[in-house]
Amino acid sequence: MPGSTLAHLAGFAAGAAVGALAANAFNTRRTLPASVPAVVEKTPEHKFRIIQDTSIAKEVLKYGHPGPVSDLLTRQAYVAAYDRRLRHPAWTAEHLTLSNLRPTDPSQRERGDRSKSEFKEDESLPAVFRATLKDYFRSGYDRGHMVPAADAKSSQTAMNETFLLSNIAPQVGDGFNRHYWAYLEEWCRRLTDKYSDVFIFTVPLYLPKLEADGKWRVTHEVIGNPPNIAVPTHFAKVVLTAKPVSPNQPRILEVATGAFVLPNAPISDETPLEKFLVPVEAVERAAGLIFFSEDVKQQSKNICQSTKCEVIVRRFDNAQKSLPAKPSKQVPLNTQ
Ligand SMILES: *[C@@H]1O[C@H](CO)[C@@H](O)[C@H](O)[C@H]1NC(C)=O
Repeated sequence: MPGSTLAHLAGFAAGAAVGALAANAFNTRRTLPASVPAVVEKTPEHKFRIIQDTSIAKEVLKYGHPGPVSDLLTRQAYVAAYDRRLRHPAWTAEHLTLSNLRPTDPSQRERGDRSKSEFKEDESLPAVFRATLKDYFRSGYDRGHMVPAADAKSSQTAMNETFLLSNIAPQVGDGFNRHYWAYLEEWCRRLTDKYSDVFIFTVPLYLPKLEADGKWRVTHEVIGNPPNIAVPTHFAKVVLTAKPVSPNQPRILEVATGAFVLPNAPISDETPLEKFLVPVEAVERAAGLIFFSEDVKQQSKNICQSTKCEVIVRRFDNAQKSLPAKPSKQVPLNTQ
């Protein structure tokens, strides 16, 4: 028999064995987590030990494993999922408190100083999927922090980590990253004055637009040469605040949630923040992500009813005082 036929038969036999063992796994599902491969034995300590990995994944992915589309990054001041295809975070998450924003402990001498940080490519990611400095150079876009540098002042390392390009997405500079978006970031930090705990998700979005022919399309730029980093059409901040209902009952928390979706475009200073308020579910639907459990959503107040949703405008450049208002885009952010 030619060698190739033998190889084929061997493969077939292995496949049959997998089938039989998978059935065995099915029978033991009450005692084993679903993901445990089939061939296991019980140790004298009543633990299960894998003798042989016969999972279907091992068989099917024998010659190649495409890997995850996102990398989970755990840093000192934040957690993020980096999207390998878009070359920017899929989401970032932070927990802000008064103490981690402004440590009062004098022993914490090492404080993050933004002038000592610089943008860096993230070498923990495979080179082919990395966002590079060259991609951003002369792209016309700012390197927009998803976790703001000012949220990571607890140490220089924490701050440096916000400058990794895996925490960055292309943002319009004037009127957005340097202005309205920065005001929103500051509003998020100010929530710690009123709430003991503030949780923030930052999420780049790609929203479809209704075009003249009646069809919805997503169009976005890709920067770099060759094109590498996708430019989000919108950015969302999803916020959860918590504080004790009363000082006598520190364990009973009042929780509020809210989400804001802003176009990646100049926004005039006069625009009320509430204009960007959307249901959390709308961002979840658009991003393919789930931020909070049903319980949290149902039991939380609307953030703008719990506190004032109003940004403080900070203009250091008088020349740029009046920016044109952005024509309103049609964005399908319904929750149906
Ligand atoms: C922060 O980044 C700067 C600039 O790359 C570097 O010189 C410095 O050593 C870094 N500090 C820490 C604590 O990692």
